[in-house]
Amino acid sequence: MKLPKFKSRFFLAPMSGITDPAFRLLCSELGAGLTTTELTSIHAITHKGTISDIREFVQYSEKESPRSIQLFGFDIEKTIKAAKIVEPYFDIIDFNMGCPADHITAQQAGAALLQKPEHVKELFSKLVKSVDKPVTVKVRAGISNDSCYLFKNIARIAEESGVSMITLHARTLKQGYSGNAQQQWTWIKELKELVSIPVVGNGDVKSPEDAERMIKETGCDYVMIGRAAQGNPYIFKQLNDYFEKGTYNTLNDADRISYFFKYLEYTKDYNISFSRIKDHAMDYTKGMIGGSKLRKAITITKDINELTRIFNKLFKQII
Ligand SMILES: Cc1cc2nc3c(=O)[nH]c(=O)nc-3n(C[C@H](O)[C@H](O)[C@H](O)COP(=O)(O)O)c2cc1C
Repeated sequence: MKLPKFKSRFFLAPMSGITDPAFRLLCSELGAGLTTTELTSIHAITHKGTISDIREFVQYSEKESPRSIQLFGFDIEKTIKAAKIVEPYFDIIDFNMGCPADHITAQQAGAALLQKPEHVKELFSKLVKSVDKPVTVKVRAGISNDSCYLFKNIARIAEESGVSMITLHARTLKQGYSGNAQQQWTWIKELKELVSIPVVGNGDVKSPEDAERMIKETGCDYVMIGRAAQGNPYIFKQLNDYFEKGTYNTLNDADRISYFFKYLEYTKDYNISFSRIKDHAMDYTKGMIGGSKLRKAITITKDINELTRIFNKLFKQII
C-alpha cells in the first residue's frame, strides 16, 4: 500500500504521556514529516459495541497531516477490528512492537511480540488485507543483547506480509531507554540492507547534526525524533533548515516560551489533562536560567490561569 507524501524526512516519535494532539499539531506545523498518536490499546477501541465519536479514545486535528495512529495489542481479530474503526481518520496504521513496559509485555504485546514471529506473520498478513490504509510497524532490536537481532526476522516477515514501512528504535527491550543508542545505529544500517521498504531510524537523535550522521551512517530513509522534541518542537524547523540550507537558527528563551504559549492555545481544542499540560510546561523550562525554581512554581499551580500568569511574568522578565 502506498504511503502518503511526507512533509519532510523527520518524524515525531509516538510518546505516551507527551504526544497529545496539541503537541503533535505544533510539531506538524513546524515541519515534522509525520506525527503518530501515543500507543492506543486495541481493547480500548473495540470494547464498546459502537463508537459514536472516535474522539472518545483518540484525539487529532485535521490540520495534523499526514498522521498515523499507533495500535498495540496481541489479539489478531481485535487488532483488525480496531484498525477498521480508526482507519477513516488516519493516513497510516502503525503497530507497536517496541514498548518495554511490564503491563504491555505481560499481555504479550509491544516488544514481547518480537519473540512470536508466527503470530506476527498471521497478524500482519491479515491486517494488511483488512484495511485500505498502509500498515507500518515500530520495533526494538530484540529482548536483550543475546537476542538483539530478533528484528531481522520480524522485518522480513513484515515486508513479505505487505507492511509498508518499518521503524527501528536501536535499543533492546531490556535496555529500556538507557545506554547510548547511537552506538547501536549499526542495527539500523543492517535493517536498511535487509529490506526494500522504507526504514525509519530512531534512537538518541538530539540535533540536526545527529540526524545527518544517522542518515550517513545507516542509509535510513527517515529519522524519528522523540525526547529531543520535548519542550522543543522547533527542532523540526531546525532539521529541515539544516538539510535545505546547511544552517539553522537556535532559539532564545523568549522564543521557546512563545512556543509553549502556542501549545497552550492549541490545548483549548482538546481534552488534555492539566497535569499533562504542566509536564509540557516543565519541558519548556529545561536549560533556562532559574529553570529549577520555575519548575517548583509550576508544580504547585492549580489551573491554566495560574500557569499562564507564571509564564507571562517570565516572558516579561526576559524580553
Ligand atoms: C515517555 C515516553 C513515551 C513513549 N511512548 C511510546 C509509545 O507510545 N509508542 C512507541 O512506539 N514508542 C514510545 N516511546 C519510544 C519513542 O517513540 C522512541 O522510540 C524513543 O524515545 C527513542 O527515541 P529518542 O531517543 O528520539 O527519544 C516512548 C518514549 C518515551 C520517552
